[in-house]
Amino acid sequence: MSSARPLVAGNWKMNGLAVSLDEARAVAAAVDAHPPACRVALCPPSTLVHRMAEVIGGTGVEVGGQDCRAEQSGAFTGDVSAEMLAEAGAELVILGHSERRAGYGETDALVAAKAEAALRAGLEPIICVGETLTQREAGETLAVVTGQVKGSLPKALAGKAFAVAYEPVWAIGTGLTPTLEQIEEVHVAIRATLVELFGEAGKVPPILYGGSVKPSNAGEILKAREVGGALVGGASLKATDFLGIVTAA
Ligand code: PGA
Repeated sequence: MSSARPLVAGNWKMNGLAVSLDEARAVAAAVDAHPPACRVALCPPSTLVHRMAEVIGGTGVEVGGQDCRAEQSGAFTGDVSAEMLAEAGAELVILGHSERRAGYGETDALVAAKAEAALRAGLEPIICVGETLTQREAGETLAVVTGQVKGSLPKALAGKAFAVAYEPVWAIGTGLTPTLEQIEEVHVAIRATLVELFGEAGKVPPILYGGSVKPSNAGEILKAREVGGALVGGASLKATDFLGIVTAA
């Protein structure tokens, strides 16, 4: 089984109004003019998923959501289901981002339930894991990250299209990045865990790196062992920065 194509996904977080669709248009135009080696996706806030999917539908750039509720529908004020994202035009969904784990107490079990919901709706989940600075300093990084992978990935993912994103919490939005050796150590451990969970099929899903990826460091990070793309926050908001990362992949 060969590994999946690398994926570079932009996570706009709670940023973006209608005017920001111009950035998505610019990314799509550049990707279609010079198709990159990687798959490219943009994950805007849920208010923009439908409009972005209409604006860049049919181009080489996919649209994704940033979270979903595990249930299909119901009395869950403020939440969005995987089915709703899919109907709006999303093809992927980020799940278990550290900002949701920390800010909303999302557990591995909840993330796993959301991943099952994503599959039910035909969405490809990007499941995020990563250690805090305290955990890294205590030498717990590999135990924490592999534990999150085991707890957050349901068995139903076997043979399905999905990605794991390794995002050290201390590297998100801080400008700090781990050394290439540190990135490789964790990515190799995640790959071994995926093989433990899914056998040969565990060799296929891309393992993205995320946390302060920018055009100037993307080239070396994306070439590191077992790095199959990037999840990009701040640098995905401007088409020129994001494209600088896409072309490095
Ligand atoms: P950053 O965010 O690129 O702004 O560090 C990455 C992420 O949180 O996905």
